[in-house]
Amino acid sequence: MNGKRYVIALDQGTTSSRSVLIDRTGRMVDFVQRPFQQIFPEPGWVEHNPQDILFTQLGSLTELLHRHNLTERDICAIGIDNQRETTIVWDPTTGAPIANAIVWQCRRTTPLVEELCGTPEVRAMVRAKTGLLPDAYFSASKIRWLLDNVEGARERAEAGELLFGTVDTYLVWVLTGGLVHATDPTNASRTMLYDIHEGRWDPELLELFDIPACMLPEVRPSAGSFGETSYPGIPAGIPICGVAGDQQAALFGQCCFRAGQAKNTYGTGCFLLMHTGGTAPTSTHQLVTTIAASAPGCDHTEYALEGSVFVGGALLQWLRDELGLLRSSSESEMIAERVSDTGGVYVVPAFTGLGAPWWAPEARGLICGLTRGTTQAHVVRAALESMAYQVHDLARAMEADAGRRIETLNVDGGASQNKFLLQFQSDVLRCQIRRPLNTETTSLGAAFLAGLASGFWEDPSELEELRQRDLVFEPEMDEARADALVAGWRKAVERTLL
Ligand code: G3P
Repeated sequence: MNGKRYVIALDQGTTSSRSVLIDRTGRMVDFVQRPFQQIFPEPGWVEHNPQDILFTQLGSLTELLHRHNLTERDICAIGIDNQRETTIVWDPTTGAPIANAIVWQCRRTTPLVEELCGTPEVRAMVRAKTGLLPDAYFSASKIRWLLDNVEGARERAEAGELLFGTVDTYLVWVLTGGLVHATDPTNASRTMLYDIHEGRWDPELLELFDIPACMLPEVRPSAGSFGETSYPGIPAGIPICGVAGDQQAALFGQCCFRAGQAKNTYGTGCFLLMHTGGTAPTSTHQLVTTIAASAPGCDHTEYALEGSVFVGGALLQWLRDELGLLRSSSESEMIAERVSDTGGVYVVPAFTGLGAPWWAPEARGLICGLTRGTTQAHVVRAALESMAYQVHDLARAMEADAGRRIETLNVDGGASQNKFLLQFQSDVLRCQIRRPLNTETTSLGAAFLAGLASGFWEDPSELEELRQRDLVFEPEMDEARADALVAGWRKAVERTLL
């Protein structure tokens, strides 16, 4: 370590790139964040310019280093966490991407997935090998789309002249001066090309999607060696030794290292992950099984169950921007607390259908239970409660799949600042909710992985001690009342399914 004081996390998210400076106590010393452009070429399509991703990421890194007058002598290691599934294909001789990145949210390949994975046999095969439900969300069909639609791409890919990577892979390749073309198992497990049980790219899936194996990155451990920085303007020789998809990084950053430990991120949507140890359960509730990030020296693959809520914090934005019921999302806490309950109002934000455990793509949102006495506060409160109910439904599905209760739910993300939401979550879920002081858990996870791999920290138990707890919420509401509220929510959900 030679007195090196910091680890840096590169947190490459869907809407911004951040570089975060973390010291030995696990404290976030500072960060620089750069947003970048979202490109919507057609309805339902979402793209990023890879150069925007790169330059916002490198720009934030250089500004952070400059601000604190840091050189390679101060930085022990770099960890990367990233928006997952987003697909980039580039020419390694020039470094030029052949097209914009196809973002995880992009739905352009839905018909392709239906065509290729339409039969029950193929769906079952994909599910058994990858733990995923065949969907345009994952990288496989996005790669295929690029090979089919960019002129000359297929021939060049087959001749070994093009590389594929998720965002982590692209950043590692650029930062190491083109020396390392690698990803980690957490990102590989989101491509729908990786056998999560065998731990390898799967030939049958590659054939199904018609993707040449030579364009795929090598898969290295999340807390492993990904080379050293070698890029103009960036201090040379800093080891990159932590890589994970952002949701698995958050699980690690929350110190959920053991089976049964779970975290929920309240963002635009919500991502709930439960560590399942060395077993990869097959969900009977339409959740996905994915690979969790492991500490160095772990001799087996670790897994997690994952489910997502499509509309979480986005509902507050809708109340603010479309209905004018809020001036800011943060105001929702104060407004919700003006009333002692919703007066029977429920909001079901099925704007884009409902995800697990309902899986109703045709469902549409509703506000029900309105009376002449309904006020702004009732609707705002019902909106916040809807986030908690949706997480409740996911958590119960996860518990049934994993065969164990969630005793404590660790939370992070923007809306985790809302104490009303967290108390209500604890009330309906009947479990402890824990919010750490540092809710930047994705960056922390990437930093922890890199810090463990580089010897900055010795052992995961050290990280558990560093993790500072901010707030703990325990159920306060009478259980019968909580059950009655959940039953009312169920009825409201059922009305969206009609
Ligand atoms: O699977 C998509 C997820 O990784 C995106 O996360 O935080 O960039 O919205 P975020």
